[in-house]
Amino acid sequence: MLATFSNTVFYTVLQLVLAVLFPAFAVAFGDQQPLGVDHTATQKRVTWDEHSLFIDGKRLFIFSGEVHPWRNPVQSLHLDVLQKLKSAGFNAVSIYFHWGVVEYERGVFRWNEIFDLQPFLDAAKEAGLYVIARPGPYVNAETTGGGFPGWGTRVEGLWRKSNRNYTEAYKPFVREFGALIAKNEITRGGPIILVQVENEYSGFGDGIEDFQYEWQLLQDFKEAGITVPTVCDDAWLGGHFQFVDIYGWNSYPLGFDCSHPEIWHSAPPDYFYNLYNSRIRKHGPKSILELQAGGFDGWGGAGYDACGKLIGPEFERVFYKGMYGSAVKIMNLYMAFGGTNWGQLAEPGVYTSYDYGSIIREDRRLRDKYYELKLQTQFLAVSPAYLTSTPWQLTESKQIEILKGTRNIVLTVLEDTLDLHTKFYIVRHKYFTKFDSINYRIELQTSIGSITVPKADHLLELQARDSNILLVDYLAGKTHIIYSTAELYTWKEIDGINYIILYGDPNEKHEAAFKISGLKDFSSLNTDEEVEWTYQIDDAVLTINFSILEDGDSQSIKFGNTVLLIFCREVASKTWILDTEPPAIVKGGYLIRSASIEGSNLHLKGDLTQATRLHILAAKSVKQVTFNGKSVDTQPATDGWLYVMYTPELPDIELPELLKLNWKRADSLPEISEGYDDSKWVTASNTYTPNREKPAVKEVLYASDYGFHSGNILWRGHFTASGGEDEFWAVVQGGQAFGYSIWDNGVYVGSWEGDVTTGRHRCNFKLPKPWKDGEEHIITVLQDHMGLEENWTAATEHFKAPRGIFDYGFKGAKPKLVDWKLTGNLGGEKYLDVERGPLNEGGLYAERQGWHLPDFDDSEWEAGSPLDGVKKPGVAFYRATFDLDVPLGLDYPMAIEYSNSTGSYYRSQIYVNGYQFGKYVNSIGPQKSFFIPQGILNYNGKNTLAISLWAMQNEGAHLKSLDLRILGKVEGGVGHVKNSPAPAWSKRKNAY
Ligand code: GAL
Repeated sequence: MLATFSNTVFYTVLQLVLAVLFPAFAVAFGDQQPLGVDHTATQKRVTWDEHSLFIDGKRLFIFSGEVHPWRNPVQSLHLDVLQKLKSAGFNAVSIYFHWGVVEYERGVFRWNEIFDLQPFLDAAKEAGLYVIARPGPYVNAETTGGGFPGWGTRVEGLWRKSNRNYTEAYKPFVREFGALIAKNEITRGGPIILVQVENEYSGFGDGIEDFQYEWQLLQDFKEAGITVPTVCDDAWLGGHFQFVDIYGWNSYPLGFDCSHPEIWHSAPPDYFYNLYNSRIRKHGPKSILELQAGGFDGWGGAGYDACGKLIGPEFERVFYKGMYGSAVKIMNLYMAFGGTNWGQLAEPGVYTSYDYGSIIREDRRLRDKYYELKLQTQFLAVSPAYLTSTPWQLTESKQIEILKGTRNIVLTVLEDTLDLHTKFYIVRHKYFTKFDSINYRIELQTSIGSITVPKADHLLELQARDSNILLVDYLAGKTHIIYSTAELYTWKEIDGINYIILYGDPNEKHEAAFKISGLKDFSSLNTDEEVEWTYQIDDAVLTINFSILEDGDSQSIKFGNTVLLIFCREVASKTWILDTEPPAIVKGGYLIRSASIEGSNLHLKGDLTQATRLHILAAKSVKQVTFNGKSVDTQPATDGWLYVMYTPELPDIELPELLKLNWKRADSLPEISEGYDDSKWVTASNTYTPNREKPAVKEVLYASDYGFHSGNILWRGHFTASGGEDEFWAVVQGGQAFGYSIWDNGVYVGSWEGDVTTGRHRCNFKLPKPWKDGEEHIITVLQDHMGLEENWTAATEHFKAPRGIFDYGFKGAKPKLVDWKLTGNLGGEKYLDVERGPLNEGGLYAERQGWHLPDFDDSEWEAGSPLDGVKKPGVAFYRATFDLDVPLGLDYPMAIEYSNSTGSYYRSQIYVNGYQFGKYVNSIGPQKSFFIPQGILNYNGKNTLAISLWAMQNEGAHLKSLDLRILGKVEGGVGHVKNSPAPAWSKRKNAY
């Protein structure tokens, strides 16, 4: 491909041409950047060199997790997620913006309460996290249109290209969002340190990487006020978009099929050499802007627990340590918290939950992999030598030599080129998919010569699906570790004692050597726990051999001012490092969020799920511990630790039995009844579409051409029969897993119930009765709209793929068309429910009338529950209310769950206090449990629950069950959760 710069000559010529046309190009291409200094001349807070980023002159590893604020419409819950990231040792959060939801109507920006990004940015700052802002304009993200606005489908020409129509379209957005970023940059006291421009600008429909577009977009963001360094995220090491300050790329090594979570298809990538052998010209810090941390799951998929297993703790160990072996210094995990595709945020490939199998579940509970990751983040945070390390060039035969003949281990050695020449020996399996462990010895190059370890009479063990980092000449504070075969979690100095935590898996045998100075150290060696270690001192080197104990027992070994704590992986991963002054270490507990010291009190804040014994190491002055504000019995132990036992109060709360609520029902498809007046509907009178894909019929029946971009769409074709029409056929398009139903003058014609792959479907239906000459007929089509397609390939128009009727006709005879009319959500782009946002409502009658909203007066409705359902095809709408009373200080996430009902085909949506929080397709699944966050659910008062039921078969449909279930119980949480605005129903002018 020409555009991928495979040809250096071409690149150089182009560079010269562009440099003449735009002088600033010369700077962008000249990558001889000075190290660690101001590169942009506009700010001095965030700088970089070829090794790492600096913030205020200090090097740091950026460990970031991706969160999409718009996938959680409860502002006061952001802090919970962000604090959980902080406690996991992250120092940054990365966010995509969503152009499509804030500029739903062209030129009108609505930052309503739930879409306002400021509270998220403030919460990030409060949690102590930096922010990587990724405003797009294109983001992908499995969201409708990949973040592009629906009106964009009417803007002619290729998108993500220097097509003027497109660049004019994005400019107001870039101005608006650029200004927001500028205001929140670190340079102005905010948390934003980096800005990613575009997203995976890597594949091009026309085969051309459009430099003019790249350059222009970058300038537009800069003009909007951005001064912090810019980054890109190339989809692979393709060398695209190198005008940014720091080149970055993405990696999803195991892809997105979660159905066989034990199978790994691909090896941990070794990017380091690729990087230098590739066309990458920017040698800033190695930056992975998206590293797989889960997977999205599609309609009919395996479910998110399977994705959490595929990309589980073992993946983190092997693949992330592979990244460290590639000397990566900026790393963003996609996703750290996925959230929900509430209110039609999804693109057609995915369903309501966007849990992603991440470390933090959609319901904000922690997965096991959260704890494994903590071992890595904390290690990197205390290992400055890693920041200036680069890998050795090691041939396979050299590796085998170092590994004393072991052939099935891959070894990477990183060496700090400055200071002490610290080395990180990273071992992993060559046959990484296997489940065998390997025993080995390894020759380490230390400051006291090369040493083959272990010196003791045992071998090291590389467990199956594991990778280990062995240390050489590592400074843990004032303690010089000559080598350690056990991994290091952290080291912290508390009251003059340097605590070093090493860990491994139970029964593993390890060896570590330390520089000590004289007999003083020897005499102070002691332990008061079970002893599984021996030592020897030789020439001021203390060598300790130890086993990792089972059952969570740990060992501590004191020499000089160092205390070596030896934990098993499980214990280390549940040990919290808190940045009080001096630091505190808390062993045990589901989550410790923060700590503060006040006199002799240590105040801990956190979340517990069961009675828990916490072991605490803190300043000597600390005598008393409080947990979540409550004083707890605090016992000192001889070894300097404090012990507390805390039993959380997790009261049962009364949950409504949804089946027994006082349900009311109404018909939500009056559009098929005789005499229904559709005069207020939009007439589909266009015969021209800006869409590149022209319809097969002369009338344009594309919903987006008329301003409807989400939810259910209704079409009504008015015909005068010629006589003899006995079949209707149509080609309907709604995106993967969509469905539709058709009626002729109110008589049911048929449905397509949908399947996992079909986004455009052709049907042929016998009409209920052949039409007679001169008869008036109305064909009503109710179709689902699964979101706009993404536009991953640049310089295409994929997101414009029409939703509607592409083609149709009759057999037997050809009637005369009077007109087609359509409706989607009431108001289209001028949507009514400004508070809940543009995508929350679709075109169902119930939605247009606002029946899903609180306080709608349903007293005239008949009683009827979704369990009774409907006896014929159509759409019924159900409403009920219930109360909740959950005491403050508890975090009890809840879900509304359907049971497995495969009988007749139906589609159903859930609305809680007016927010659409679930789209269930019973024949496709897999999602049956729909998490509803606190703040959407009112935990202290009344809730309005509404359910739509679209029956797609002659026998009708009904739910088998519907339950509200508590997903987990935690004492703690983030305190008071403010409910998101849930305006009550009021009569809608012009509703039809
Ligand atoms: C990446 C893309 C993200 C997201 C991810 C898969 O390629 O940049 O936006 O789509 O794939 O979840």
